[in-house]
Amino acid sequence: MSNDTPQIRQKINVCVFISGRGSNLKAILEACENPNFPARVSCIVSNKPDAGGLEYAQQYKIPFAVISHKDYTNKQDFEQGILDALTHEPIDLICLAGFMRILSPYFLTRWGDNIINIHPSLLPKYKGLDTHARAIEAGDAETGCTVHYVIPEMDAGEIILQRSIEITKNDTLTTLAQRLLGEEHFAYPEAIKAVVEQKFTQHYEPKLDLSLTNTTQGKQDMTDKEVLNGHKEMWASFTNTMKFGTLSIIVLLILMALFLL
Ligand code: GAR
Repeated sequence: MSNDTPQIRQKINVCVFISGRGSNLKAILEACENPNFPARVSCIVSNKPDAGGLEYAQQYKIPFAVISHKDYTNKQDFEQGILDALTHEPIDLICLAGFMRILSPYFLTRWGDNIINIHPSLLPKYKGLDTHARAIEAGDAETGCTVHYVIPEMDAGEIILQRSIEITKNDTLTTLAQRLLGEEHFAYPEAIKAVVEQKFTQHYEPKLDLSLTNTTQGKQDMTDKEVLNGHKEMWASFTNTMKFGTLSIIVLLILMALFLL
């Protein structure tokens, strides 16, 4: 392993938001089964009670919440309903996977910036809906998918990665969507890996030697390096005290010997 390779201590917790069939959720769940994949799905949120993807929550025994926008009179209450549901499980990153509601600044400012989304076009081209129809109609030679950070402006956040496919003259909306979905299933797990490497590894210092771990309790805010420095200081002060004690005893013994003589 080269020195540049990020050290990943543990899997981050991902919450996946869905509205429909959940094939991207399935791809993420399958990737998480690999012990070397740096994430696990800790919970699933759907805004539709009948979303097909909820079957994966049952299959993989993942806690899930259905927060239907139809049960709320306004968007802010709906988003607060989601925020309340998110407090039940550990979450580092939210992955929107076919979640068909636009999250407002109310949600985004309260949650923070660790939200990513998959979109079926090569952004910045074709933000919004009907991306395949627009690409075919424009006579584009290729289309693709984009995983990007979510910001208040729709489909405009920083791009994490893209995968593209050729549009052939025989392509229909269905064939194009189907072929692109295959690419999406590669793209999303790859993007999660990239996000962990970009944003999370800096918080994960190499593991401490086990002999020191008990003394780190109650010092959760200190980095391992700070704790190690603390131990070095303690050891230096201990050896200084020992040196001073030994010197004092020798002086005392000499004085006693002089007095007896
Ligand atoms: C995917 O094609 C995804 O890119 C798209 O919805 C589909 C969800 O499929 N997302 C958007 O259009 C977001 N603007 P899935 O439920 O099978 O993952």
